[in-house]
Amino acid sequence: MAVHSINASKVSVNSSLMQDILLRVKETAKEIFNGACGSHDWDHTLRVYHLCDRIGKAEKADLDVVRIAALLHDIGRSQQDKTNGDVCHARQGARLAREIIRPLPLSEAQRENIVHCIRTHRFRGCRRPETIEAKVLFDADRLDAIGAVGVARAFLFAGEIGARLHNPDIKIEDTQPYSENDTGYREYKLKLSKIKNRMLTDEGKKLADKRHLFMADFFKRFINEYKGKG
Ligand SMILES: [Fe+2]
Ligand SMILES: [Fe+2]
Repeated sequence: MAVHSINASKVSVNSSLMQDILLRVKETAKEIFNGACGSHDWDHTLRVYHLCDRIGKAEKADLDVVRIAALLHDIGRSQQDKTNGDVCHARQGARLAREIIRPLPLSEAQRENIVHCIRTHRFRGCRRPETIEAKVLFDADRLDAIGAVGVARAFLFAGEIGARLHNPDIKIEDTQPYSENDTGYREYKLKLSKIKNRMLTDEGKKLADKRHLFMADFFKRFINEYKGKG
């Protein structure tokens, strides 16, 4: 079944049952994040969940699918970090999520859509989001990587892997991820600065424009201060 036919196959679940389902998924997902690194912890998932809610409503997405996908989207992250990036957390997370949602009273199309959302949410991933729900999750996750929170997370991640703030003596193109040169500034130049042009929903684009402006100003000032100017 094509994943973009999801709305035609939505199972009618009353709202109190859906609240119970969300609570169960939340408890299961939260446990997986015990001991997670601060840059990709349970708080990140909750921020993405709230952004998904906001964007999902504006885009008239299936909120049941979007909310469950948001709660589970990074459950494969610890595997990626343990293997220094060899395991793709989107692929791993989709595999784990399929098992978690199997007993839930959702339609087969909704289940496939949730798995598709998680499988395609990664910025560097090779699969692109096709459904509106997957586009909502993609944009929500991107938004948490830019703006004030994005700057904070970029440096937090650099600290977690023992990287420097910035290394002006090496070309960014010659640096490697998960090395001491995987700095907060590298993350901005290679990834964060490009995010606003990769947004997939109208609501996501609006929010990204504002966050991008703040972040671009921050890094301009950062480089000036680094050189003793500013
Ligand atoms: Fe992720
Ligand atoms: Fe995420």
